[in-house]
Amino acid sequence: MLAPGAVLAADVIEGQRIYNQHCIGCHGPGGHSALPNAPHFSRGERLMQPDMLLLATIKAGKMTMPSFNGILRDQQILDVIAYLRTLQR
Ligand code: HEC
Repeated sequence: MLAPGAVLAADVIEGQRIYNQHCIGCHGPGGHSALPNAPHFSRGERLMQPDMLLLATIKAGKMTMPSFNGILRDQQILDVIAYLRTLQR
């Protein structure tokens, strides 16, 4: 068990696994968006924000994006965010 408040380094490999399961349908393989209105992470769109702000948005949901609160843990979402930050080409 982890000490409360322990700060873990994000796991990009785990983030990729979660992305491919929960996000790829809309945000596309490698962040090449599959929807006209979803940001292209491959172009770094919407990623010029701190992790904690992205975390809050992903938990809350936005427009057609569902809320992931209760579906993914904060650490899992932070892993996905770390993966998103590797996609820009
Ligand atoms: C049902 C489709 C759908 C799924 C599934 C989805 N998204 Fe999104 N996402 C969107 C759309 C559409 C937007 C753009 C919302 C807007 O601003 O109009 C968006 C926006 C975002 C943004 C930008 C938020 C901002 O600040 O504007 C991030 C980051 C994001 N999604 C991450 C994720 C992650 C991570 C997952 C998987 C855990 C995910 N999304 C799953 C459709 C989806």
